[in-house]
Amino acid sequence: MADIILGIESSCDDTSAAVIRDGYLLSNVIASQQVHKDFGGVVPELASRAHEQNIVPVVSQALRKAGVKASDLTAIAFTRGPGLLGSLLVGTSFAKALSLSLGIPMVMVNHLHGHLMAGFVREDGKPVREPSFPYLCLLVSGGNSQIVRVDSPLEYEILGQTIDDAVGEAFDKCSKMLGLGYPGGPVIDRLAKLGDPLRFKFAKPHIPGLDYSFSGVKTSLLYFVRDRMAEDPSFLENNKEDLCASFQKTLVDILMDKLIKAARQTGIREIAIGGGVSANSGLRSRITEEGLRRGWNTYLPEFKFTTDNAAMIAVAGYFRYKAGERTPLDVAPVSRSAEF
Ligand code: KG4
Repeated sequence: MADIILGIESSCDDTSAAVIRDGYLLSNVIASQQVHKDFGGVVPELASRAHEQNIVPVVSQALRKAGVKASDLTAIAFTRGPGLLGSLLVGTSFAKALSLSLGIPMVMVNHLHGHLMAGFVREDGKPVREPSFPYLCLLVSGGNSQIVRVDSPLEYEILGQTIDDAVGEAFDKCSKMLGLGYPGGPVIDRLAKLGDPLRFKFAKPHIPGLDYSFSGVKTSLLYFVRDRMAEDPSFLENNKEDLCASFQKTLVDILMDKLIKAARQTGIREIAIGGGVSANSGLRSRITEEGLRRGWNTYLPEFKFTTDNAAMIAVAGYFRYKAGERTPLDVAPVSRSAEF
């Protein structure tokens, strides 16, 4: 009998539900919350309220699009954390209620594990191209910047991670500082395409091992712009594109330096990326170039699987379900990965 898994994702500001049958995607519905735009960042209280409003219609639509009834489901995979607690509570409570009413098991998924597994969502009519184990995944989002060694669908080890800001946060905070809007990543990416990446230089961190740091480069941009604006008040307006291109190049260089080091140290040549920042065009082309130069097999997720989505949660949950994992009804969401 086929395994039909409903995935639920509500860790931040996207309410998402997806259905997969034996690993193949049947539907993936995402309601992105627009209420945060005016605030320049996600407002946790507003996010929880919007999830509460969205969750029932989003799940209903996912089932309808998949052409399955709730009674056809085999199990429910849901994001337990990390993320905003109020947001996670909505998805977790919904999963519990549905599991209880349908009499089917639920399987908790670490949101980051979902991003690591995004490359394993299969779609009918599309060629299957998945990394073989072990592979390295550069996991880059608004909350995380990590290099992870993935040994199997269930086993992974963090080899390095940021000691302060995540790279997505650096994109977002600098965009806000430059008055370019939120979320900053896509705006900076778009402007960077029009600018000269070699025009300005920003300080890069010297952090030992495979860890990252992004708070210094953010400060470096801040001081640089402040000093130039003191001399020429129109500096920012006249140099926006070059600033974005140079800043983005610096962030991509920092990410790539450690990824190259990790590949060298582990001898692993299967290289994937995941998380919201993996949509960045500069990062995508750099990783492809380095892959060609270094003999890596590189795996870039489709754009729809880079940001938060329930398809990746469903597929990560599917592997866990097949391995016999079940989550009891008294489970509580957790805001930090360390609590898993
Ligand atoms: O994975 P995600 O949707 O949410 C979590 O943080 O969990 O990632 C959101 C982050 C934001 O910081 C956003 O600015 C960044 O991904 N992002 C990008 C791009 N698209 C989204 N960063 C750089 N370039 C992009 N094209």
